[in-house]
This record gives sequence, structure tokens and C-alpha cells, in this order.
Amino acid sequence: MADSSPDVAENTDGNGGEDRRGFVTRLMAVICGGIAGAVPFFSGLVVILDPLRRKAGGKGFLRVTTLDSVPDDGIARYFPVVTDRTDAWNRYLDEPIGAVFLRREPGSDELQCLNAICPHAGCFVDFNIPDKQFQCPCHDSNFDVGGTRINPEACPSPRDLDTLEIDPQHLKEGEVWVDFKNFLAATPDKIEKQ
Ligand code: FES
Repeated sequence: MADSSPDVAENTDGNGGEDRRGFVTRLMAVICGGIAGAVPFFSGLVVILDPLRRKAGGKGFLRVTTLDSVPDDGIARYFPVVTDRTDAWNRYLDEPIGAVFLRREPGSDELQCLNAICPHAGCFVDFNIPDKQFQCPCHDSNFDVGGTRINPEACPSPRDLDTLEIDPQHLKEGEVWVDFKNFLAATPDKIEKQ
């Protein structure tokens, strides 16, 4: 016969409470263990993927030189552009990625910046100081001091030299930072190389 005395009822409730508390404790332990295990896992994943993430990032503005290195005499000066490069898990410091011509007019702090690569087939152009012209040694494309083709009908280059943006904030501080890009050759449109 079932014993329905209050003592037995209290005893039954007490065991049920302990069971529930035990279950909740074990559940919390599992959740905390899962979180504790997930943190190092995701941290490790971020470290492993970090080179790929950095490789995917754009170059942005790169420091090229100082404003003092470009005298205000109207003569275009050649500067190589270097940056650190990440290739999968390797990092290469100061890798050359191209070059620019910088020029400023007498009495001016404004800089003109042109990519030094000829848009015809990718040779580097020279600046002819006496003629104040950019000249390509490969197939005789000639550009005026502003980078415009002198004779577009006869010029092998399908477009003018490519202008590049200079960061005005750094320029105020006497530094020349350029939003450096290379562009596809042999096309009349200025299309950035990926
Ligand atoms: S590469 Fe400059 S003219 Fe051909």
C-alpha cells in the first residue's frame, strides 16, 4: 500500500529538486566548456586566415617622399614606390610596385603626380628636361609636362599618362603620400589593375 505520509512526500520533492539542480549544473558545465573551447578555436582560425585577410586589403595611400624632395622648379622627378607585400603566409618588406613622377610649379605647394608607366605597353617613360616632355623610349609616345599626349592621332599610347591622387593632409605636414595604382595598358580607358 502506498505511503502517502507528509514525510515521504517531502522526501520525494527533495530528490526531484536535487535532480534538477544536478541537471542544471551539468548543463552549465557543458555550455561553459563549449564557450571556453570555442574561444581558442576561433582565435586560431583568425591567426591562420590573417595573411589572406591582409592580402585582400587594398594598398591605399603609400608614403613616397617629402615635399622638400620636389623643388618647385617645374621639373618632373622620378620616385620609386615601394610597399610591404604579403604573399600567403610570407611578408616581404619594401617591394617595388611601380614609380611616379612628381612635379610642382614655381612658388606652388601643389603637386602633380603621374604614374611613370606608359599606357601603350607598360614601359617606363622618361622626363626630357630641355623639352619639358615625357617621352617613352619604347615606341615614341610623347606627353606634355601635364601628361597629355602631344599628338593623340599619331601617339601609340591610347590615353594620356595616368594621374594619381595625393593625400592633402600629409602634404600639409610636408609628406607626399600617393594613392598608388597601376592601370591596364593598351586601352583608352583608365582601368585599375587588380
Ligand atoms: S610602351 Fe610606350 S610607346 Fe609603347
